[in-house]
Amino acid sequence: MPTTFITKAKLMDHSTQCFNEALAVIAGGVDSPVRAFNSVGGTPRFMDHAKGAYLYDVDGKQYIDYIGSWGPMIVGHCHPDVVKALQDQAAKAISFGASSPLETQLARKVTQLMPNIEKVRFVNSGTEATMTAIRLARGITGRDKIIKFQGCYHGHADCLLVKAGSGVLTLGIPGSPGVPEDTTKHTLTADYNDLSSVAQQFAAYPGEVACVILEPIAGNMNFVRASDEFMHGLRAMCDKHGALLIIDEVMSGFRVALAGAQSLYGVKADITCLGKVIGGGMPVGALCGDAKTMAHLAPEGPVYQAGTLSGNPMAMVAGLTTLSLVEQPDFFTELTRKTRRLVTGLQQVADDAGEPFWTDSEGGMFGYYFNQGPITSFDQVKQGNETRFKAFFHFMLEHGVYPAPSMYEAGFISSAHSDEDIDRTIALAHEFFTQ
Ligand SMILES: Cc1ncc(COP(=O)(O)O)c(C=O)c1O
Repeated sequence: MPTTFITKAKLMDHSTQCFNEALAVIAGGVDSPVRAFNSVGGTPRFMDHAKGAYLYDVDGKQYIDYIGSWGPMIVGHCHPDVVKALQDQAAKAISFGASSPLETQLARKVTQLMPNIEKVRFVNSGTEATMTAIRLARGITGRDKIIKFQGCYHGHADCLLVKAGSGVLTLGIPGSPGVPEDTTKHTLTADYNDLSSVAQQFAAYPGEVACVILEPIAGNMNFVRASDEFMHGLRAMCDKHGALLIIDEVMSGFRVALAGAQSLYGVKADITCLGKVIGGGMPVGALCGDAKTMAHLAPEGPVYQAGTLSGNPMAMVAGLTTLSLVEQPDFFTELTRKTRRLVTGLQQVADDAGEPFWTDSEGGMFGYYFNQGPITSFDQVKQGNETRFKAFFHFMLEHGVYPAPSMYEAGFISSAHSDEDIDRTIALAHEFFTQ
């Protein structure tokens, strides 16, 4: 603990001190809005290190981590294999700006694990993946309009910042200043799990829709799964109208099942977006599809996309090592079991206490919600009891559990979480519900 901190502000914890210092030089004090605790109040915790299922803040306090860096840390923090791979790679090269076989190896791994995918293009974030996917769909179809769903978040590209989830929803921002109307006029929105609202948009703009983009299990408006009927209906509607179906699996890919959400629904995307887990904690994204679709991207085709650090070797080895752990037999069975243990435990203690509460999970991703479920729509999500959520969040944080600081975000479990971690979390929730 620095002496300046002790002498200047005895009552101020080091996280608060760090936040104040950050506010002086970092816009809003954070590099991604949801980290700022704006919607839950209080001061964000600043982290020092992380190991396995735990985060350790700059005050030395340990937290059971249910954010997992917003999804990527599926094998836990600082898994020894991932650390070793990164150390070995750092000693060899951090970035080439030229191609390396590591990119082919990770692309091959992705195509093997997700049979819908034949070719991959690596980028540096989920935002880049979806932004490029939209451009590709527009380039292929020669059409401008896109359909997205209220409450789904696909990163912060201009055309996708319309009725979006995640931080946009958490901070109550309807759109964003700085996004020209000329851009968003091509973004049509529809209601999640409501095929008729999609049909209406197709009918209103015949022959103009390039693509439909969705999160198959939406994790940016809490946790809302698409119904089977909705997924198959979208596929059929896209086929009928000559539009491409973009399934954004940046969050769900290698997270809800080994072959992603598409394998659970038996629905094939024209373009799949990936990110998070495939970089094992390093910045990465990817857009993927069959060879014919991907052939439209430069340099093979005319749709342009590029990136200084795309496919950089650090991200590739972190991703390769993470996927080699994730593909082990029983990895997902065990991850699913742990996640279910958590959500059924939470549900039980809430029910026992008479708290209106609902939970759901798939693989290593889950949601909990302060109202009656099941939750199938964005409108229902908005009706959650935010006051109870905030109180729960701060209670858990105070007692060493770190849930997402927003009732519109999904939670994540890693293979490093133990049954003891989960049971401790449930016991704390019990304490909260019965206090
Ligand atoms: C489904 C989905 N798509 C895209 C993104 C954007 O990814 P990134 O934050 O890496 O730009 C996110 C981020 O959370 C996401 O959850």
